[in-house]
Amino acid sequence: MRITINQIKEMKQKGEKITMLTAYDYTTARIVDEVGIPLILVGDSLGMVVLGYESTIPVTMEEMLHHTKAVVRGTKQAMVIGDMPFMTYHISVAEALKNAARFIQEGGAQAVKLEGGVTVAEKVSRIVDCGIPVMGHIGLTPQSIHQLGGYKVQGKTPEAANKLIKDAQAVAEAGAFAIVLETVPAPLATLITQRISIPTIGIGAGIGCDGQVQVINDILGSFTEFVPKHAKQYAKLAGIMSSAITQYYNEVKAGSFPTDQQSFSMDESILAELSK
Ligand code: KIV
Repeated sequence: MRITINQIKEMKQKGEKITMLTAYDYTTARIVDEVGIPLILVGDSLGMVVLGYESTIPVTMEEMLHHTKAVVRGTKQAMVIGDMPFMTYHISVAEALKNAARFIQEGGAQAVKLEGGVTVAEKVSRIVDCGIPVMGHIGLTPQSIHQLGGYKVQGKTPEAANKLIKDAQAVAEAGAFAIVLETVPAPLATLITQRISIPTIGIGAGIGCDGQVQVINDILGSFTEFVPKHAKQYAKLAGIMSSAITQYYNEVKAGSFPTDQQSFSMDESILAELSK
């Protein structure tokens, strides 16, 4: 049985911290699930860390569904959340519903996430009305990077902070079961966490949030082009991978791989027949 939205909401009430992590493929999702992480986000961050795009903007529904299916196949307990890509929920309520439904019906996800506050509240409410759990996402919303003018801390002025509080309230009132707060000052995130009834999941939003989310490549140190300030590297996988691949390269070149241990033998008499 997978984690439910009610269990996630109860964690806030009990003061139990919520852990969320991204995953994009079957093998990684299995490990994350076996550790017991309750929320796995198939984030559109895959555009950058898996597909090599410059931002999340080029990511398509088909790419998201492809990775969501793999993550779902690799998990038994976690709630898998599909991240709705840029412009798949903006044009109309009908399109938002159709694309949210694809994550559930084709992708096998249990919930969707979408970026925005007051302006997407109606879409959140209509998706929830269809029985699809929604996670909100405010603060630094990477799909609006051109409008925001860069990957900057959000909510630093009184107006911007008030806007974020209103956005969080609108998303919560629309029926979202949780909300991501990305790159906002820690005291503001704490205030929002106290003001709304649904769990806040922070990324670069300090310790006062109900939970935390990170991009898995950042915490494993496998994506080194850019390491955000909010990410802590619990491993340096890029270095470990590079050294293993270098050893393989060198051994193939030197003729020392494979050895008998990695090879298969055959009956000598059959070989003798073939050599006649
Ligand atoms: O796409 C993503 O990975 C995200 C998280 C950073 C919250 O939206």
